[in-house]
Amino acid sequence: MTLVPEIDGERLLGRLDAFARIGATPAGGVNRQAFSLEDRSARRLLAELAIERGFAVFQDAMANLFIRREGTDATLPPLLIGSHLDSQPTGGRFDGALGTLSAFETLEAVEDAKAETRMPIEVVAWANEEGSRFAPGVMGSMAFTGADISAWQSIVGSDGASLAGELGATISALPEATLRPLGMPISGYIELHIEQGPSLEKERLPIGIVTAVQGTRWLEISIEGAAGHAGTTGLAYRRDPMVAAVAAMHRLQTTIMPFDSSARLTVGRVTAKPGSINAIPQSVVFAVDIRHPQVERLDAIEAELRQVCAAEAEAQHCTVMIRRSFDMPGAAFSPDMVKTLEEAVNSLRLPHKQMISGAFHDALFLARVAPAAMIFVPCRDGLSHNEAEYVEPAYAVTGARVLLQAAIAAASPR
Ligand code: GLV
Ligand code: MN
Ligand code: MN
Repeated sequence: MTLVPEIDGERLLGRLDAFARIGATPAGGVNRQAFSLEDRSARRLLAELAIERGFAVFQDAMANLFIRREGTDATLPPLLIGSHLDSQPTGGRFDGALGTLSAFETLEAVEDAKAETRMPIEVVAWANEEGSRFAPGVMGSMAFTGADISAWQSIVGSDGASLAGELGATISALPEATLRPLGMPISGYIELHIEQGPSLEKERLPIGIVTAVQGTRWLEISIEGAAGHAGTTGLAYRRDPMVAAVAAMHRLQTTIMPFDSSARLTVGRVTAKPGSINAIPQSVVFAVDIRHPQVERLDAIEAELRQVCAAEAEAQHCTVMIRRSFDMPGAAFSPDMVKTLEEAVNSLRLPHKQMISGAFHDALFLARVAPAAMIFVPCRDGLSHNEAEYVEPAYAVTGARVLLQAAIAAASPR
């Protein structure tokens, strides 16, 4: 008799707890930044769980981690399901981990039932999704889908570490995972994730089906002035890059989002050098994250930002340099994969809605090479990139059940 694969909710919730202990912060979140010792420990734990179950484990040159269960048709490329295990510096325990561990639970559920799928199914933990330690984000999926990574060799992290060194050490720390070439044909990709916003919770919906992701652009603005004595330098003699930076930020915050409800503009990092309390800074660098579903609006916001920064720098007799460190246009997911998710949700009789993702995800890059789509579950108060991030256990398990149902359907097309 063939069993029907079922999510083991207790096992999934126990795994979420176990991974939340890796890099746990006192405030209840996690700090498991890409390629750190904590990230390596999480990869190790997942690989060990997989090896224990008899699954094959692989990694590639970007440290993407894959766990494979064979299908019945060896000619078919695998269906990929997964997310990421790295976190923000003060991140939550569900961003990435929920999707990765639910994907592993899906593989185990299929294995427990000794069910057959036509395609192989592979769980994937994409490397460096967050990008907060080493920009750009979604590095793993970008490299997997063919991005030119030669320029990444010289990337230096927010903590001064070298990407090449940390990436190499991360790969070497897991010799049990067989190295395979970067990139391969895949049949499709499904990612479960927390919404990271408030709409599902507000509308009391357990599931969102994501049909598209808005675009993201990251800009690094460096304003150069002249260091000077805080006590002796009168206003007329100052070339203060902090004054220019603050004025530019103020103008941007008051002229973009208030007039375009779809636009997002965030300054999440500001560095002043030399960083002395009693010296006018020599330079101020700030990073801006802009988001919009329309690429034309992203272009317009970037143009406005360039003009505002140039004007405010000039007003302080400073110079400005602006570098784009990340540019990810938004994209729509495959209608076929969205339909597969709709069918899974309907078969489980779950209230749901279709929606656009405000956050970027690895699925955006996978969508360029195969049918891809995402499942969202609500998170408390819409909080994410915050240690207080929380998902009701019932929602986590429901999301995993949808993933399982959809993965079985997608891996055994009629
Ligand atoms: C992903 O982490 C994002 O910033 O959207
Ligand atoms: Mn994420
Ligand atoms: Mn994130």
